[in-house]
Formats: sequence, C-alpha cells, structure tokens
Amino acid sequence: MLSLHNINAFYGPIQALFDVSLEVRQGEIVCLLGGNASGKSTTMKTILGLVKPRGGQVVLDGEDITSLATPQRVRRGLASVPEARRIFPRMTVRENLLMGAYTRRDKAIGDDLARVLDLFPRLKERLGQSGGTLSGGEQQMLALGRALMSRPRLICMDEPSMGLAPKLVQQSFELIQQVNAQGVTIFVVEQNAQVALSIAHRGYVLQNGAMALSGPAQELLHNPDIRRVYLGEVAA
Ligand SMILES: Nc1ncnc2c1ncn2[C@@H]1O[C@H](COP(=O)(O)OP(=O)(O)OP(=O)(O)O)[C@@H](O)[C@H]1O
Ligand SMILES: [Mg+2]
Repeated sequence: MLSLHNINAFYGPIQALFDVSLEVRQGEIVCLLGGNASGKSTTMKTILGLVKPRGGQVVLDGEDITSLATPQRVRRGLASVPEARRIFPRMTVRENLLMGAYTRRDKAIGDDLARVLDLFPRLKERLGQSGGTLSGGEQQMLALGRALMSRPRLICMDEPSMGLAPKLVQQSFELIQQVNAQGVTIFVVEQNAQVALSIAHRGYVLQNGAMALSGPAQELLHNPDIRRVYLGEVAA
C-alpha cells in the first residue's frame, strides 16, 4: 500500500535519514521503533510530505507521491496523529473533529462524525468542551478521532504512548487495534517497543537514521538485541 524507497532526508546540512526503506501493506499495523533522535518522526513526516527527501521515493498504491503536498496525500487516504497529539486546545471537541475533515467537500461528514462518536463515547459526552481541558487519554481519542474524520485508509501515529500513564497506554493501543480491525491500516512510531510490538504485525527499527532491523513483531519481541536495548534487559 505504502512504501519508502531509499529515503535520504536532511535538515539543512544535517542528514537525518540514510537510505531508509520500508513497506506498509494493506490491513497491517506496522511499528517503527528507535531511540531518541533516531529519525522516527522524520520518517513519518516524509510519508506525510512534511519533510521533502533529497533522495528516494514515497510510493502509495503503486504511484510515486514524493512530490505531492500534504493535503493531496490526505485526499489519497493518508492521515496523521502527530507527536504530542497536537489537538487544538481552544477549539471544542466537535470543532477539533471537524478539522479532520478539512480536505473533504462531500455531504457524509455528519455520518462520519456520528461513527467516530460511537467509537469514542467519551467524546460524545464532551462535544462542547474545549480540547485543552480533556485528559491525556481523551486527547489521544480526540486526535485519533480527528484523523478518522478524513476517512483515511492509512493512519500514521507519532508516539501515541507519550505522556500517558501505563494503563492509558494499554487502552490507547487497544483503540488502535479496534480502528485497525475496521479496516484502517496503521503505521505507528514508538519508543515503547513492548506495547507497540504487542499489537503490531511487523516492525522496523531505526538507529542513527538508518534501518537496523525489521521483521514480524513476534520475532522482534524475542530478539535479544531489542530486548536489551528497548526493553531494558541487561545482558547476562
Ligand atoms: N526541524 C528540524 N531542524 C533541524 N534538525 C531536526 C529537525 N527535526 C529533527 N531534526 C534532527 O533530526 C534527527 C532526527 O529527529 P527525529 O525527530 O526524526 O527523531 P525521533 O526518532 O523522532 O526522536 P524522538 O524519539 O526524540 O522523537 C535529530 O538529530 C534531530 O535533531
Ligand atoms: Mg519523534
């Protein structure tokens, strides 16, 4: 469905991604793991068109979309839940959700709003409340709900576990699984390898801007290097 081919990305003179390739197949949950500053967010921004690579291709449904702007990619089915969720704190829950439909001109937006509210009943009770007053877990639901409002085929999420208490992290990943079960493909960037691999089908690991490892999630979960580096196990 979506693939990156040999992406090289820079911020000014500094290279952030080195020859990064990955693939996300229809229906999958794919996670991208890596430590701080390894290039995870840059990879996600490259998929969304927020970072323009200096080399390599972004391919969606067999079409090279490397030169397309972000709204054009959204119209083709991509949506994002950015780092730190980035909801609009002064706008109400309803307004936040409707912002997710900004690229659409069709009349089914009301139906989709109803569907998102069915999925997240807590948001339904808080439609008129300003986004900034929601709890962390509720803001996560709002950010995911907003992404769903564009009727995406692929949602890219940047560290959904960040800043959430362990119980909420679990809940948040259950929601991701629920959305995936409804047919939406998920690409999730995470530092929390344990929880991300527990729901993902496959995973990739970035190290210093280059792809270090990839494989089925269960395989990565049992990989000794991953266990040592990301799951905090000390080598015997
Ligand atoms: N806007 C920017 N301008 C300059 N350098 C940047 C910019 N954004 C990221 N970088 C650099 O690119 C590298 C990769 O950053 P990136 O945000 O992709 O890492 P990350 O894996 O998402 O890290 P984290 O886990 O801390 O979110 C870092 O060295 C970072 O300093
Ligand atoms: Mg990041």
